[in-house]
Amino acid sequence: METNRLRGDVEAAFAQHFSGGPPRLFQAPGRVNLIGEHTDYNDGFVLPVAIDRQVMLAARLRSDQEVRLWSAHFQEGSAFSLTCIEPDSRVAWSNYVRGVGSMLMKLSPELRGMDAVVAGNVPIGSGLSSSAALEVATAVAFDALSSLRVSRRDLALLCQRAENEFVGIKCGIMDQFIAALGQRGSALLIDCRSLEYEPVPLPANVAVVVCDTMKRRGLVDSEYNARRGECEEGVQFLRKRLAGVRALRDVTSGDLASYGAGLRPVVRKRCAHVVHENERVLLAVAALRAADVAEFGQLMYRSHASLRDDYEVSCPELDLLVDLASRAPGCLGARMTGAGFGGCTVNLVRAEMAVQFAQQVASGYHERVGITPEVYVCRASEGAGEMAVAAMAQAAHPSDSRPCRGACRSVKPRSRPPS
Ligand code: GLA
Repeated sequence: METNRLRGDVEAAFAQHFSGGPPRLFQAPGRVNLIGEHTDYNDGFVLPVAIDRQVMLAARLRSDQEVRLWSAHFQEGSAFSLTCIEPDSRVAWSNYVRGVGSMLMKLSPELRGMDAVVAGNVPIGSGLSSSAALEVATAVAFDALSSLRVSRRDLALLCQRAENEFVGIKCGIMDQFIAALGQRGSALLIDCRSLEYEPVPLPANVAVVVCDTMKRRGLVDSEYNARRGECEEGVQFLRKRLAGVRALRDVTSGDLASYGAGLRPVVRKRCAHVVHENERVLLAVAALRAADVAEFGQLMYRSHASLRDDYEVSCPELDLLVDLASRAPGCLGARMTGAGFGGCTVNLVRAEMAVQFAQQVASGYHERVGITPEVYVCRASEGAGEMAVAAMAQAAHPSDSRPCRGACRSVKPRSRPPS
């Protein structure tokens, strides 16, 4: 669904569910990670892109500390008071909002409540970080409505804490960081230890294409936490033999060759993935800066093989999409993106071949699996923020179809309802 339509929907739903004045509009994007998977919680490097799919919040400040929410996707509401925030297992999506509210209250007990409608077009459970987008859009809305002026970096950290401590998923910082700080036209190289980051412009002659297996991730939370535990076991072993090892970020492939033999085999494989993946991210950034897109693509293929064989977070559908991509016109590189076990692949494709690429991968996947995958070209977009009022007025008149910033150049129309 296009951004313009999403704006129109979220405003219409607000008018339907809340009386009074007009809302302000906030957005945060989903993301696709080009390379650097399962490195963020090892203090390593990642290279994500904020995409032109977003979660939007139409929100109005309240004079008290009540929060009243409506989800356009789930067609259900939820309400709570900022003075006493409990998780709600029956309305699971509301926990991302509750978690962010809870963390902001610790920072600023004067935080005021809001009436808000949530809608989005980041597909849920597809590895494109719809939950981080919801958290960051919520944080930006609360921050702006109560004039808190928290930095984007601190909002990202606070959203990660909400997910770790309130929702109970031990994710790293990548998703919230890119949702908060993404830059149009660039990927961001993020050092997940120092949180320093730099934009890496994407060349105009390549397209970032996302292919969705349509398989929604299963087992992801327990397997994710198990991988984190195995990495930690590797660090405990290696730090006794190598000075200065605080995380796998501090281990080189040479160190692993010298000292890794005593690790449990499964832990050795997990460490090998993380150590090599960190090295690949830095090589990939150098390749992109040198406009060597062929080398970048090769690093993506190697990343996928490592996630499949050493980290064991891929699945047959993801492997099939990567294999089909590698034989499709214009493909430079392909890999799974996000936590794994389903969801999407990310592909680097020669821009002029993107349409043929999408058609060939989609028909090959349909032939083998019987499902048509969604395939779309992403535009590297801005991170979270408030949307201009003038643009909102335009969205109220759907006959005016001027493209807006963030409109998705879909190769194939999506049928999914907003998330
Ligand atoms: C999920 C987590 C991120 C990151 C990726 C894997 O998206 O939320 O923090 O660990 O998996 O790279």
